[in-house]
Amino acid sequence: MKKGRIILDRDYQVAKTDPRIFGSFLEHLGRAVYEGIYQPGNKFADENGFRQDTMALIRELNVPVVRYPGGNFVSNYNWEDTVGPRENRPARLDLAWRTMEPNTFGLDEFMDWCRAANTSPMMAINLGTRGAEQARDVIEYCNIEKGSKFSDLRRKYGHEKPHNIRLWCLGNEMDGPWQMGAKTAAEYGRLAEETAKIMRGVDPTIELVACGSCGVGMKTFGTWDATVLDHCYDYVDYLSMHQYFDLTQNADAKDFLANTLSMDAFISSVASICDYVKAVKHSKKTINISFDEWNVWYHSKAADAKREPWCLAPPLLEDIYTFMDALLVGGMLITLLKHADRVKIACLAQLVNVIAPIMTSDTGAWRQTIYWPYLHASLYGRGTVLQTLVDSPKYDSANYTDVPYLDSVAVMDEDRITIFALNRDLEEDMEISCDLRQFAGYHVARHIVMTHDDLEAINTEANPDNVAPADGGNAALQDGKLSAVLGKKSWNVIVLEK
Ligand code: AHR
Repeated sequence: MKKGRIILDRDYQVAKTDPRIFGSFLEHLGRAVYEGIYQPGNKFADENGFRQDTMALIRELNVPVVRYPGGNFVSNYNWEDTVGPRENRPARLDLAWRTMEPNTFGLDEFMDWCRAANTSPMMAINLGTRGAEQARDVIEYCNIEKGSKFSDLRRKYGHEKPHNIRLWCLGNEMDGPWQMGAKTAAEYGRLAEETAKIMRGVDPTIELVACGSCGVGMKTFGTWDATVLDHCYDYVDYLSMHQYFDLTQNADAKDFLANTLSMDAFISSVASICDYVKAVKHSKKTINISFDEWNVWYHSKAADAKREPWCLAPPLLEDIYTFMDALLVGGMLITLLKHADRVKIACLAQLVNVIAPIMTSDTGAWRQTIYWPYLHASLYGRGTVLQTLVDSPKYDSANYTDVPYLDSVAVMDEDRITIFALNRDLEEDMEISCDLRQFAGYHVARHIVMTHDDLEAINTEANPDNVAPADGGNAALQDGKLSAVLGKKSWNVIVLEK
């Protein structure tokens, strides 16, 4: 059996996690909104049409923030079409996903839904086909109490109190050639700067996210980010990052599970670019990271390429996640936590039906494999992240060298320490140890393990618990020394309580 060691020191702290690191994303895409969270007439829908079965799972996840309404969708979005009496709302062509958008669920419904789901909004504005004027109007509609054109319109439409949306994205993936109204870095940087200025004119208390390069593989990655920040540094708070992993880009499972190394390097690079611009500008302000799209995405791509255009809520991006995908998602969560000093917002893309932890049919809602590590991180990852040194045997794969079989991070809360640990060894268990003598008075409260014989195992409506965690681990704490055996290919959450 391989051996690994986790080294912790209570004084070596990365940062307190911003709870928004456990955020998610709902785009008007496929069956995310329609049928996912909103389905009037469904037996699970309440009087607003909000699906209560989905809502219960979202509440269980304790999702602190939900990005909306896109994604690529936002770059052709007319918010005015989505408010007011439903019978007056026009259906529009969604050019991003080539579907029909009925606008029966709009901005005000989303805000009502957020309140019911116990979450908060992260609203994106359209900087593709539109610009600063629309941004000014929508923030006036949402955040001004009364007495102006758009705040009074909101009140007329039944929302007396302002929505008070604090967090806004200045467009989406504006460097992507697929984006409607894509821009050069200089064009976008200037637009983001002026739009931010105007939005802050309406409400100076908001926080703003500028679009970083939409992928580390983009030719302009790096120069895009630096140029954009060169323009808008003083007016924004976060730079966005997006990353999806696709098994077809990896040689095998070992290589796929090593992708967290690329995510880790990507975050370090973007933080360095933010700090480079800070230095050049002699600024005292630090720009942090909003990793507002991250996940595994590949299962549905071939089917999606064949869909008919202009359908209503077609099943798009419906990845059915495997146990192997869940292991990588666990590793990605560990990576985000390790960077808690710079990553302040992160959104698992997405939340329901579309590359999502939750799936629905007309007859129910169920948890995909990736639901579980996301739940564990959200429940146990709030607190102070400790610098977690890992001493582990390593392997090489097609795209990576020196990949530690063991990946881990620890989070300390008032009366609790949680160790998240991924054993990406597909053949062998690993015996781990951790000297916890500095942390007096704890006991092992739980050792949650998620594993499965079959890397390809999935959950379905008929068999929703095929891949699910259990309190089956053998972690033990004796004389301040923690020991445990982490099964081959397993996701582990060891919870120590006082
Ligand atoms: O999440 C799916 C899509 O991925 C989003 O619309 C877009 O921003 C990204 O390319």
